[in-house]
Amino acid sequence: MKILLINGPNLNLLGKREINIYGKQTFEEILDGLKKQFSAMELSFQQSNIEGELVNYIQAADGQYDGIVLNAAAYTHTSIAIADAIAAISVPVVEVHLSNIMAREAERHTSLIAKNCVGCISGFGFLSYQLAIQYFESTKI
Ligand code: DQA
Repeated sequence: MKILLINGPNLNLLGKREINIYGKQTFEEILDGLKKQFSAMELSFQQSNIEGELVNYIQAADGQYDGIVLNAAAYTHTSIAIADAIAAISVPVVEVHLSNIMAREAERHTSLIAKNCVGCISGFGFLSYQLAIQYFESTKI
């Protein structure tokens, strides 16, 4: 099973960015752990700070992956383009967030992408990614 993890803006700074909210682990460390845990799955990873590049990754994933785990970061709350890209492909997308966006500032309470995703996992730190991959694993025939 092929899963693509996509991270949006500022998530390249995990481990040094607002560690009280996002934790001390870098994404490389998180990904390492996920690859060990899900060694039977093929996990790929893309990150960009640029909205259009995230749209390109989502479009390019169509027909190539069984699932996408997407942390669109701040674009979650603003990007109709990313929402449209998710709607345009047939690969199921799970929205994830490290922090609990509903427990934070009001501007983070809206997800423009949620309606086009299978579901949203938010607030479990790096476990949000793990739980999203587990969802796809559980759909394996
Ligand atoms: C985030 C939450 C977003 O509101 C924020 O802009 C991020 C990270 C999270 O993983 O908790 O950059 O998506």
